[in-house]
Amino acid sequence: MLNINQIKKDFPIFSSDPTLVYLDSTATSLKPRSVIEKMTEYYSKYSANVFRGIYKISEKATEEYEETRKITAEFIGSSNPDEVIFTRNATESLNLVAYSLGRLIIEEDDEVVVSIMDHHSNFVPWQQLAAENGATFKVIDITDEGYLQIFHKESRIQNSEFRIDLTGIISKRTKILALPYISNVLGTINPIKKIVEAAKKINPSLIVVADAAQAVPHKEINVKEIGADFVAFSSHKMLGPTGIGVLWGRYELLDRMTPFQYGGEMIDEVRIESTTFKHPPHKFEAGTPHIAGVIALKEAMRYLQQIGMKNIRDHEKAITGYAMETLKKTFGEKIQVVGPQDAKSRCGIMAFTFGSYHPHDIAQILDEDNIAIRAGHHCAMPLHKRLQLSATARASFYLYNGEEDVEKLVEGLRKVEKILK
Ligand code: ALA
Repeated sequence: MLNINQIKKDFPIFSSDPTLVYLDSTATSLKPRSVIEKMTEYYSKYSANVFRGIYKISEKATEEYEETRKITAEFIGSSNPDEVIFTRNATESLNLVAYSLGRLIIEEDDEVVVSIMDHHSNFVPWQQLAAENGATFKVIDITDEGYLQIFHKESRIQNSEFRIDLTGIISKRTKILALPYISNVLGTINPIKKIVEAAKKINPSLIVVADAAQAVPHKEINVKEIGADFVAFSSHKMLGPTGIGVLWGRYELLDRMTPFQYGGEMIDEVRIESTTFKHPPHKFEAGTPHIAGVIALKEAMRYLQQIGMKNIRDHEKAITGYAMETLKKTFGEKIQVVGPQDAKSRCGIMAFTFGSYHPHDIAQILDEDNIAIRAGHHCAMPLHKRLQLSATARASFYLYNGEEDVEKLVEGLRKVEKILK
């Protein structure tokens, strides 16, 4: 188990707000001191623009900025930092692929496939792309247990020998398969490597886009092993600053793609007749970026590595298991956690319904005791519709949450019951 009291000391918010029970890291994580101090370091010591200045502080800023690119590539198992593009958020990373590659390759009668458990940011860009180009938009369903409906009927999901069957889902006409690595509502961890293998066996030229916004902060990932063509995630969910997203893409694809935005620092030469562009990643980073944010993101990865991604995963598994068990013991059938019931197949995301109480009322009453959870559709409306729910309450756990947070949640829910009954 992680030493939660020690970890909490690294997060200044717990000193300024000691009673805070933060259970909304799926929306955004808290920030350790090292990340906050790195932002301040940039603004107070070398606050110059990157790639533009022939003077010391600009060179220092550029060096720090590019160091983050290198560390990010290493963090996700890529040997080429030029495959790492900094965007504003995971949403922009996914839109970048839909605009720059999608519009290059999608033609009438092609197929674009997503899943019902995708966040809107990996659903709507593909839905719109398909509609604009006359392609077919297909949505993979889930089982009632909250797994993708892609498993061979004879294979048991818990068995490591499970088989994936994409018949009727992927065909030679499928150009894009967009999936979440981990669902931000169900918490389901999808076997993304096996899905990519099975999908590319049917159609080797298929492009797989993985939304890893809920995966990279919580478990070790290796983009080469996964085999997807694009992997998107966000700094602010992995202890880093807000306003930074990452897109990792296979270099040969990035090289083929057209820029997403045009402007400063992404050009090679501009003439009245025509313009040529830089190579990736700079081709995709038009304008002055969020320099302080990128520079500080590496401190987030250093912090995560110092704790250890495996330790974080093990801790989240244990705390989620404890939470699910405790809620069940206390409230019985009145609490329904959506998604896989086995804590091993899910991450630290626990969306639930509680009797017939509205999730907004639950969140509001918990807030009276400084317990922060999210309530709503969590930007996953098609999934909620599939679950026949308009909203869920969602508690999510990260490396700074311990059993005492679960106990406070239970106490808070008892209060909800008392007030709303
Ligand atoms: N995507 C984030 C969430 O699920 C904001 O809460």
